[in-house]
Amino acid sequence: MSDKPFRTYGSRGGGSIELYLADSMAAMSRMDPRSVDVVVTSPPYNIGKKYGVHVDRMPRHDYISWMESFGRDVSRILDLDGSLFLNVGGTLEDPWLPWDVARAVSNSMRLQNVIHWVKSISLDLQEADGSTSLISTGHFKPIVSKRYLNDFQEYVFHFTHDGARTIDKLSIGVPYKDKSNIGRWKSAGRDLRDRGNIWFIPYETIRTREQRPHPASFPVKLPEMCIRLHGLTEGLVVLDPFMGIGATAVACARLGVSFKGYEIDGAYLEESCRRLDMFYSPTGSEDDGARHQSLQ
Ligand SMILES: C[S@@+](CC[C@H](N)C(=O)[O-])C[C@H]1O[C@@H](n2cnc3c(N)ncnc32)[C@H](O)[C@@H]1O
Repeated sequence: MSDKPFRTYGSRGGGSIELYLADSMAAMSRMDPRSVDVVVTSPPYNIGKKYGVHVDRMPRHDYISWMESFGRDVSRILDLDGSLFLNVGGTLEDPWLPWDVARAVSNSMRLQNVIHWVKSISLDLQEADGSTSLISTGHFKPIVSKRYLNDFQEYVFHFTHDGARTIDKLSIGVPYKDKSNIGRWKSAGRDLRDRGNIWFIPYETIRTREQRPHPASFPVKLPEMCIRLHGLTEGLVVLDPFMGIGATAVACARLGVSFKGYEIDGAYLEESCRRLDMFYSPTGSEDDGARHQSLQ
């Protein structure tokens, strides 16, 4: 564990992408107050995921206290105009978990938006426009249960200091279906409207376990949309204290903003570097390591 970056890349926007092999709770306590603009992260959910180093089973009370102190640390290092996007999912047996975490963090910051990250959806278009199509799309992992519906969503809690920060909704907006709205509404000068808080972002499907170097990664598009929603301002600094295999780092590389990421597992850190090496190599694809997503 070290205060020196394990690897640094020059961001295309002029800043830097710094990856640290470090315990983020210790590292954040040494960071300057108000030194970060956006935190996008997904902490361990304490549901027994099989990580390489982190043991994902603490007594519930200890875990919630840990998340509470995480919220305090983030609130200290976050700029007064900053945003925390905290991705947490529940389990079928423990649907309160994400809300217990959000409640613990709300002791330090205000919950401004609740975003639903939807991984799979079925849309009966007859209800919407009378057509006969049924769209069923996204990642589907069957569960064997007579009690529970399949859980296709996780939360992204958007916290700010005062709960009243202006966000850049149209940066992730969607085109109007009815184009006559453009011009009818004062706010609708162009063909974009608020997307709302339901974000359908599927995983890329992989076929074998060997293709999956991390048990709980999110797609790069998720942090990318969070950062855009916060607003791409000059000199923006983004932090992911639980970096995993670097989805937020890749999002920052794509957006050309500065990034700091902490991870306690050297193997995950190496994988983040592999993805960034690919991104920055002259022949590399921007579309990096999406292969790490969920098993079908
Ligand atoms: C849910 S995963 C994050 C996955 C990440 N969003 C991605 O897309 O790859 C949580 C990560 O936190 C790491 N972790 C656990 N405790 C940590 C700590 N104290 N400091 C830094 N990383 C930690 C785990 O090793 C795990 O990779």
